[in-house]
Amino acid sequence: MAVFVTGAGGFLGQTLVNILIGQGKQVLGFDYNAPPEATLAKWKGKAEFVKGDIRDAALIADLVKKSGTTDPIIHLAGILTAGCDRDPQAAMAINMGGTNNVLDAAVVNGKRRVIFASTIGVYGRGLPQPITEDMKKEPDGWYGLTKMAAEEIGLLYVRRHGLDFRALRFAADDQGQMVVTKIVAQLVRAFKRNKYGKGVNHRVETRRGKPRRHPRHVTFGNTAVIKPLRKGLGKIR
Ligand SMILES: NC(=O)c1ccc[n+]([C@@H]2O[C@H](COP(=O)([O-])OP(=O)(O)OC[C@H]3O[C@@H](n4cnc5c(N)ncnc54)[C@H](O)[C@@H]3O)[C@@H](O)[C@H]2O)c1
Repeated sequence: MAVFVTGAGGFLGQTLVNILIGQGKQVLGFDYNAPPEATLAKWKGKAEFVKGDIRDAALIADLVKKSGTTDPIIHLAGILTAGCDRDPQAAMAINMGGTNNVLDAAVVNGKRRVIFASTIGVYGRGLPQPITEDMKKEPDGWYGLTKMAAEEIGLLYVRRHGLDFRALRFAADDQGQMVVTKIVAQLVRAFKRNKYGKGVNHRVETRRGKPRRHPRHVTFGNTAVIKPLRKGLGKIR
């Protein structure tokens, strides 16, 4: 049994794997790009790493099966704003199709909980304060759009298959470690939460619609869990 972490070679994924193995979890990490050799050496015996493409449905099915039926899947693999705008077809195939592959595999392997890395980009620009879950989603680029669609695909799996799917709409900041730590803390909390848990709004300070540059201005209130949205509960603090 292992936590299956997609995007494990990335910025958040590497930190998350380090935290999970520090908590004694077994991890199966997956990414198109491998983390540095030194990181792989540190993971040895605790986290296995497999290189591959999230668009490869058969590979994802095999890996999810291999990682068991009980521990969650934390799905971070995806392409970000610039990559999405450069290649919208790839954005759809990776961010939406890749998520669909993960969800399909989760359903047939114990309906394992899937925690999905979404973004405040689903809301678009010019955000009021505070940002709340029930705000209208008006993404203004392929990144937000594909993440919003991936959330909707996840909700379809909730409705059709009773899958435990949660999306965390992260707010980005470019100041590095502190933000990584906060985002990863959200992931770890979501990972630990009981089924469906409580939905909590983001509180993100922004300046003229953009996340502020200094991390102390960015407060990640808590995890945003998607099920309350589906139930129309909207504002939950
Ligand atoms: N870092 C932030 O502040 C932030 C904010 C909002 C949302 N997110 C989301 O969190 C997730 C992780 O973000 P990050 O900052 O670590 O980004 P990142 O780019 O460092 O990590 C994403 C990883 O996905 C991998 N990937 C891309 N295409 C793939 C494919 N076809 N197959 C397999 N792997 C593939 C990349 O190789 C990369 O390692 C992303 O889904 C991102 O949208 C991050």
